[in-house]
Order: sequence, then C-alpha cells, then structure tokens
Amino acid sequence: MKAIVIVDKNWGIGREGKLLAHLPGDLKYFKEKTMGHTLIMGRTTVEGLPKKQALPGRKTLVLTRSMAVGGAEQSDQDGCIYGENARICGSLEELQRLLGDLRKSDAFCAGGASVYEQLLPYCDEALVTVMEQEFPADRYFPNLPQMGWEAVRVSEPQEENGVVYRFCVYRRPKK
Ligand SMILES: NC(=O)c1ccc[n+]([C@@H]2O[C@H](COP(=O)([O-])OP(=O)(O)OC[C@H]3O[C@@H](n4cnc5c(N)ncnc54)[C@H](OP(=O)(O)O)[C@@H]3O)[C@@H](O)[C@H]2O)c1
Repeated sequence: MKAIVIVDKNWGIGREGKLLAHLPGDLKYFKEKTMGHTLIMGRTTVEGLPKKQALPGRKTLVLTRSMAVGGAEQSDQDGCIYGENARICGSLEELQRLLGDLRKSDAFCAGGASVYEQLLPYCDEALVTVMEQEFPADRYFPNLPQMGWEAVRVSEPQEENGVVYRFCVYRRPKK
C-alpha cells in the first residue's frame, strides 16, 4: 500500500475538516496517480469531498464505525451513501479481508490523519506533496524524515496561488 498526501512545512495536512490550500496542480497529480485504483479514506475526509461523494473512477473504501451495520457484504449489496464507487468498511480487520495483505495491496491510503496513522505501518512508499509554506493546521501526517524515511524523488518546485510545492516520493528505510 502507498500513502498519498499533501503536507505543509510542519507536516500539517488539514484544518477544520478542510485541506490547507487549494492547488489545482496537486489535485491533478492526485487524480493521475490514483485513477483506476482503490482509495482508503476516513469518514471525515470523504465528508469533506465535493457533494460528500467518493471521487469518480476509483473505488473508495470508507472507514467508519458508525455505519457499518452489516459489514462489507451488506454495504456491497446496499450501495453506499457516499456514492456508487464507495463501500463502507467498519474496521482495519474488515479492510484486510477486502484487500488481502495490506502491505502488498496496490490501494492508496488517502487520509485523513487518523487513517494515515493507522495505515502507515503497512506502507512502504508515500507520495508526499510538500509545500514550503506553513499554515495553521489541526491535523498532521507523521514526520517521515524524523522516522528515517528517505526522499527518493523530489520534483522541481511548482508555484500556484503563491504557494511553492514539490512532488516527493518517500521510501521506508530498509531494516
Ligand atoms: N493533506 C492531505 O493530503 C489530506 C488528505 C486527506 C484528509 N486531509 C485532512 O485530514 C482531516 C481529516 O482527518 P481526521 O483524522 O480528522 O479524520 P479521518 O481520518 O478522515 O476520518 C476519521 C474517521 O474515520 C473512521 N475511522 C478511522 N479509523 C477507523 C477504523 N480503524 N475503523 C473504522 N472506522 C475508522 C471514524 O469514523 P466514524 O467517526 O464514522 O466512526 C473516524 O472518526 C481533514 O482536515 C482533511 O481535509 C488531508
């Protein structure tokens, strides 16, 4: 599994349920990287998407404890309030049943903070868009360099709406 995230200088990712900045270039990058793949998102993140609906062209597994009455099979039959591409998933165990080995899965962990934290142990790679600026934030991504992760690719700087950012790929350190 891979994580995909945009962070500010302090590894902040969101505030009051929203992203820290609107960067069309990063949204395009997210779309290119994830199209056709499975996304895993927490309920709060999905409810922050336009019309509270899962993104088109991708299957989204929505982690929530409050709605998964009948488990994955039930929600498969019933469809999902977050759109026809979405399926509710009530626990990490259920996620594992749906995806098989989480570490080997080609799904993307797409946030928010609580989901990144729980699934990072299953990720070997993280696509991290790093903004140079800092923003007020109330949600954070784990600080990968402090955990020994290495940036194996860093793009040229991009600039949009006065924000400078780079597309980076981080890899987990080998044991
Ligand atoms: N910068 C980025 O790339 C990026 C990406 C995504 C999100 N974000 C930001 O992150 C913030 C949201 O993060 P967050 O941590 O508050 O919320 P979140 O992770 O999106 O969602 C939290 C919810 O997910 C469900 N959940 C989490 N773990 C679960 C588990 N093991 N089993 C079942 N359900 C589980 C619970 O839903 P219930 O309460 O329904 O049980 C929990 O309340 C927003 O500001 C958003 O904009 C930023």
